[in-house]
Amino acid sequence: MSSPVFAILGTGSFAPAKVLTNEELSTRVDTSDEWIVTRTGIRSRHIASETETTSYMATKAAEVALASAGLTPAQIDLLIVATCTPDQPIPSTASFVQTRLGLPETTACVDINAACTGFIYALDMAWAMLASGRYRHALIIGSERLSTSVDWTDRTTCVLFGDGAGAAVLGPSPAGSSAQIIGARLGAIPGTAGLLTIPGGGSSCPTVTAETPRFIQMKGREVFKYAVRGMQDSARVLLQQHDIHPADIACVIPHQANLRIIEAIAQYLEFPLDRFYLNLDRYGNTSAASIPIALDEARRAGRLRPGEISLLVAFGAGLTCGSALVRW
Ligand code: ACO
Repeated sequence: MSSPVFAILGTGSFAPAKVLTNEELSTRVDTSDEWIVTRTGIRSRHIASETETTSYMATKAAEVALASAGLTPAQIDLLIVATCTPDQPIPSTASFVQTRLGLPETTACVDINAACTGFIYALDMAWAMLASGRYRHALIIGSERLSTSVDWTDRTTCVLFGDGAGAAVLGPSPAGSSAQIIGARLGAIPGTAGLLTIPGGGSSCPTVTAETPRFIQMKGREVFKYAVRGMQDSARVLLQQHDIHPADIACVIPHQANLRIIEAIAQYLEFPLDRFYLNLDRYGNTSAASIPIALDEARRAGRLRPGEISLLVAFGAGLTCGSALVRW
């Protein structure tokens, strides 16, 4: 008997209604639309209201993903929420999502933190758990409320990030469908943990001070270099492992951090830029939510057609990196 094939059965996303434009940001910190667009490609981002918590946005995206997969909450036996902005340290954001969605007692619920690579980590982990035969349908969500983790007086970071959530349902590929998760590759670059951090508020430094704030601190230029290296290496090796050529990829869904990073990867991997699905101009960097939001938008825009192969590729704090190949 051949082993079961697993696929993405449905996707969903949610963005808070409030949109913060570069022009509006320029009235708060010493920056300009021109600087932000030239250096990053970002024009606006969504900002969550007080009630739009990480678990709230995750639930909204999950409801859409479940509907698109044609499944009910009772059919989900694994929930993985990828986030680096959990509602609280305890319990997991997944626990709040479980209650909000009405998932049953038999659903395994857990958070993971691989920063912006979180969704690809969740995809690979859920896929492995499904392949074990012990789970049948997994709901994976990337949800972030980064607006609470940036210092709104620091122009070097606050222009980059936004809020939102995206979700996908994984399960056995329907009979007669070509849909399938083909492969995934996860990794992390040793010695780079200090490049992107929130130094204060954790157990190693519970006291928040000016030197150890509870806001994102980043060595932007170094992150940029490693991001390009990590993403291109991950994607190149994954493609080689599966004997898939860039020409076979119909759509690339990259982590939406910076247009210049994406352009560098397109050049290195010899993919034309128009094959990348891009929405960072409207979202900024939403960390673990970035790829699933883009995935959902691309699917709804008809960019992911049956039989076609997509490449997902990301990097994030850690520095983590990862890629996945998905056939629709
Ligand atoms: N507006 C105007 N000027 C600014 C701003 C701003 N918002 N931010 C920085 N500058 C100034 C700097 O002060 C500096 O001025 P100086 O030359 O007088 O010293 C100048 O602009 C250049 O600054 P750099 O940091 O060298 O600019 P760079 O071209 O490297 O772009 C950026 C900065 C956009 C942050 C880039 O390095 C980058 O995108 N890095 C990757 C970051 C990233 O993707 N992080 C997300 C990681 S994902 C995760 O896990 C959360």
